[in-house]
Amino acid sequence: MGLIAESLKRIKPSPTIAVTQKARDLKAQGRNIISLGAGEPDFDTPENIKNAAIDAIRRGETKYTAVDGIPELKAAIVSKFKRENGLIYEPGQITVGSGGKQIIYNAMMATLNPGDEVIVPTPYWVSYPDIALLAGGTPVFAETRLENGFKLQPDVLERAITPKTKWLIFNSPSNPTGAAYTYDELKQLTEVLKRHKHVWVLSDDMYEHLVYDDFEFVTPAQVEPELYERTLTMNGVSKAYCMTGWRIGYGGGPKELISAMAKIQSQSTSNPTSVSQWAAVEALNGPQEFIAEHNMVFKQRRDLVVSMLNQSKGLQCPTPEGAFYVYPSCAGAIGKTTSRGVFIRTDEDFASELLEEEGVAVVHGAAFGMSPFFRISYATATSALEDACQRIQRFCGSLR
Ligand SMILES: Cc1ncc(COP(=O)(O)O)c(C=O)c1O
Repeated sequence: MGLIAESLKRIKPSPTIAVTQKARDLKAQGRNIISLGAGEPDFDTPENIKNAAIDAIRRGETKYTAVDGIPELKAAIVSKFKRENGLIYEPGQITVGSGGKQIIYNAMMATLNPGDEVIVPTPYWVSYPDIALLAGGTPVFAETRLENGFKLQPDVLERAITPKTKWLIFNSPSNPTGAAYTYDELKQLTEVLKRHKHVWVLSDDMYEHLVYDDFEFVTPAQVEPELYERTLTMNGVSKAYCMTGWRIGYGGGPKELISAMAKIQSQSTSNPTSVSQWAAVEALNGPQEFIAEHNMVFKQRRDLVVSMLNQSKGLQCPTPEGAFYVYPSCAGAIGKTTSRGVFIRTDEDFASELLEEEGVAVVHGAAFGMSPFFRISYATATSALEDACQRIQRFCGSLR
């Protein structure tokens, strides 16, 4: 018997972190690299939030807290759900973890038995299938298509559901495509879910606030009140509040689930960082205007990137509703040869040659379960994005 657990053999390290690291290594060698791999805003955490954390340190809020969140933060989350989503939760239905990722992890660990299936629409955020596997479940992939704006269609969802389905993981706006569901689009899915009462919904609303062109965000438990009893509505401060490093995520759902999740957390990490929790209280209760200001910048960047990518030979890039990603098809580049004589067989070849030849780091679609595509994060300075897109155009134009 080897040292490493069998369960770990099915898990792969995060490919997005791997690309970011490779870009960093090349930079360290002196190459001029533009990294469009990372999934975090380039804006700094707002000053009022930082000050709330500093105050918390000075007040001595530096001890263990309640395992799944201080009452003040739970109260702020209860208000947030009510104010922004029309969802009524009691504090006992709220859980706080070290990032959105831990909330998903706790939910899967607390509920999956061997053989339980978790429906994951493709392309997916890289952690969903691996967390399901780590928790002993089986991911079942439900494909979306570029023609449908990468949105899960009701018939595809229907076909993916079996008696063993435990969860549907739903993510809008999506990482990696930026696709966000309108009320009508989501309603079509909740109609299917209403008929399958054994299926739970984990709604990952991490990019809720990052939507453009007056798009109205909606979440499943709000669109279909019948689903409230079997939905975990997950969110966090990482993206909208520029707090990726602070590690605070949260969820609202039925008490039984929330208590089971607290049990997992009590025997793993215990409470999320006390100081970060106080910062999150200020993030949720404090001024929200900066979000709209950031979104104006994000929208301009999205439009710039979509337009420049669509002017690149062999690429096709739909305009997403939200998040800070685009997911262009590189089908037109597959089967071509680079000027150095490298044959492009897959989207991984495309991404790796783009990095080698032009110094632009993107993440290949296979990492997100759908090829031939790649993901660009436009949470980067506008001038760098323009430069990167020019390089992509040159690279695509040079393929023969
Ligand atoms: C869709 C999605 N959900 C959850 C997370 C996790 O967020 P956190 O950094 O709060 O763990 C991310 C982060 O990249 C994400 O893209």
